[in-house]
Amino acid sequence: MTERRLLPVLTAPPTTRHGSRSLMTCKFRCGNACDHREPNTSDNTHIGEILAAAITRRSILQGSAAGAATLVITGASGSLAAASATGSRSATDTTGPAALEFKPVRPNKRDKVTVPDGYRYDLIARWGDPVVAGAPAFDVYNQTPKAQSMQFGYNCDYVGLVKMPGERGKAIMAVNHEYTDEVLMFPDGYNDALIKRIAMQAHGMSVIEIHRGREPGSWRRTRPANTRYNRRITATTPMRLTGPAAGDRRLRTSADTTGRHVLGMLNNCAGGETPWGTILTGEENFNQYFDASGELDSRYTESYDRYGLTGEDSRGWSEVDERFDLTNEPHEPFRFGYIVEVDVLNPDSTPKKRTMLGRMKHEGATIEISDTGRVVAYMGDDERGDYIYKFVSRDDYDSSGTKAARGHNLHLLNRGTLYVARFNGDGTDDGLYDGSGVWIPLTSDTESFVSGFSVADVLIDTRLAADKVNPTRMDRPEDIQANPVTGKVYCALTNNSDRGVEYPTDEANPLASSLVREELRGPLVTASGNRNGYVMEITERHNDHAAESFRWVLFLVCGDPEDPRTYFGGFPKDRVSPISSPDNVAFDQVGNLWISTDGNALGSNDGLFAVPVEGSQRGHVRQFLTVPVGAETCGPLIKGETVFVAVQHPGEVDGATFDNPASTWPHTDPFPRPSVICSYRFDQ
Ligand code: FEO
Ligand code: CA
Ligand code: CA
Repeated sequence: MTERRLLPVLTAPPTTRHGSRSLMTCKFRCGNACDHREPNTSDNTHIGEILAAAITRRSILQGSAAGAATLVITGASGSLAAASATGSRSATDTTGPAALEFKPVRPNKRDKVTVPDGYRYDLIARWGDPVVAGAPAFDVYNQTPKAQSMQFGYNCDYVGLVKMPGERGKAIMAVNHEYTDEVLMFPDGYNDALIKRIAMQAHGMSVIEIHRGREPGSWRRTRPANTRYNRRITATTPMRLTGPAAGDRRLRTSADTTGRHVLGMLNNCAGGETPWGTILTGEENFNQYFDASGELDSRYTESYDRYGLTGEDSRGWSEVDERFDLTNEPHEPFRFGYIVEVDVLNPDSTPKKRTMLGRMKHEGATIEISDTGRVVAYMGDDERGDYIYKFVSRDDYDSSGTKAARGHNLHLLNRGTLYVARFNGDGTDDGLYDGSGVWIPLTSDTESFVSGFSVADVLIDTRLAADKVNPTRMDRPEDIQANPVTGKVYCALTNNSDRGVEYPTDEANPLASSLVREELRGPLVTASGNRNGYVMEITERHNDHAAESFRWVLFLVCGDPEDPRTYFGGFPKDRVSPISSPDNVAFDQVGNLWISTDGNALGSNDGLFAVPVEGSQRGHVRQFLTVPVGAETCGPLIKGETVFVAVQHPGEVDGATFDNPASTWPHTDPFPRPSVICSYRFDQ
C-alpha cells in the first residue's frame, strides 16, 4: 500500500450552496429544490447512527475482501475474463469497452468531450435534428412548437435501446428530454408565449431508429423517412393512467372527468428497458411546472408540501395552459410523478403511466426478473432525504415470445406489491459502512399495508404513506441497476448538503462533511454534508430480486482519493480516478459498473467512469470520458463495443446566454446543442 500525504484540510466552507451546479441548472432542472425546505419532514428513526470519524483506518486502507473473484483483469494487455460465481450468468468479452482497455482521462475543464486515446465518438442526435418524417430543418431563430414537436428535444437524459424484431445491425433508441433551459435555447427577442409552447414540445422523449455505422462500434441515426418507428412524445402527448389508482377522484380534472387520460409527461430523467421490449421513463421534478402561488385547496396542503408543490411555476407555463395553475386544477399535479411505459415497437401506442409503481420524483426504474419469474422494478426517489423503492409484480413474466405473451407482459406493471427500503447499520467496528435491510410493503394492488391509507392513497401520496413505516432517509437515491453477472444491485446516492446538518447521519448515509474543490487545481476545502456521494451495493437474500430482506455495503464513498473519507471498494486509492456525485449507473455485459456523474464537486467537468465490482480489481475506478463545460453526463449505456452517452446541458454556466454562450459544443453551431453520442475504439 502506498503511503500518501494528505492535503491540509481547511475549515472555510465553500461560497456556493449548490456545489458545482450552476444556478441555471438548479432553476430549470429541479426548480431550485436545494433552496427549498426538504419536503421530507418526517421524524424517522436513524438506526445505527454514527459519525463519519468512527470509520476505522482499517476499512479505508484494506476495504472489503468479500465476494467471489468473478472478474479478473489480467496481464499487460488488460484482457478480461469473466466467470460467474453462480455459473449461470457468465460472459466473456476481450474487446471493446468491457475489456476496460483504456488509459483513464484526467479531470479537466475543456469545452469538449474527451475520450481515451484510441477512442473516438460520433454524434447520433442533436437538439433540433429531425425525428419525425417531414420535420423541418432546425432554425433556432425561427423555431415553432410544431417544428420542435418533430425534432429531437432538449436536454437528453436517459438512453435506452430496444432490439428491432428480425433486424440485425439496427435498434430503436429511446432518449428522454428532461427539461429546457430557455436562457440557452432562445436568442433575445423571442415571444414569451411562443417560448413556453416550444419548451413544452422540447420535453418528453424521442424514439429514433439507429443502425450500425461503417466503423465497428459506431452507430448512426436512420433517416426519418426510412423508418416507421420514429416518434416524439412531449408535454402534451395523450397518455393513459393505468393501475389501481387510475380513475381515482384525485386524478380527475375538468378536462378529464374519468381520471384516466392525461396530456404529457414532465421532467423525465432516467429509465429502463423491459425484457418485453418497452421503455420505462421516470417523471422526476414535476412539481416545478405547477403554479402553487394562489389560494390552494386545503384538502391537499399536506400532499402539496410533501411533493414540493410550492410557489410559482419556474417556466410560467400556467400563463399559456391553465391546467398548470393549481387554483384552476387542484388535481392536475396528481397526474404526474409516475413511471411511464412506452411501447416503442408500436409507434401508435399510447404511453401508460403506471400508478402501481407509486408517485414520487422518480429518477427511473430498472427491471429484473425474480427467481420465480416475477418482475421487479428498482426505483429511487431523487430528493434529499427521500427513499428507495421496489415493485414486485403479482404475475410472472412470460418469456415465450408469442404475441399473447407480449400482451400479458404489457400488463405486468399494473398488479403487484410496492415496497420501501430500510437500511440497518451493523456498526463500523467491522471497518465497513454496511449492514442489513428490509423491504417494507406499502401496498399491493388490492390491499394497503399502511394504516389510514387506501391503496390509491399509497399510490398517489406514496411519500406520505412511506413516511408512516419508518424507511431510511437517503442522500438523493438516483439510478439503481442490477449486475447482470452477479445479480447484486447498485444504487447511486448523488449527494446531500443537508446530511448531518438538518438531520443526523446513519451508517448508510455516514458523512456529515466532505472535502471539495472549487477550482480544478484548487485546494481541497471542507464543506458540510455529503457532497461527493456514494454507490451502494445491495445483495438480496438468496440473490432473489423478489426477496424482502438484503445485505448492503457502501461500495464507493466518492471524492478525491486524497480525502481520507473516501473508499473505493478496498482498491488502493493512489490508483483510482477522483469521482464525485454519481448519478446514473449501468453495466456492461461482463459485469463492470459504469457510473456517470452530475455535479462534480472537485472542480472538474462531469464524466463517465468504469469500475470492476468483483475480484482483485474491485473498486478500481477509472475515468472513461469527460463532458464539456457546464454539461452533465447522462444516459450511459454500454452495448457490446459501444458506449452511448447523453451530453446534457452543455454550457449551462451562470451568466451564459444563447447570445453569450459558455460552450458551443458540439461545435456545429455558435450555441450549444445537447446531444447523444456513441464512443468506440478505432485503433484496433
Ligand atoms: Fe434528473 Fe435525479 O437526476
Ligand atoms: Ca459496518
Ligand atoms: Ca439523473
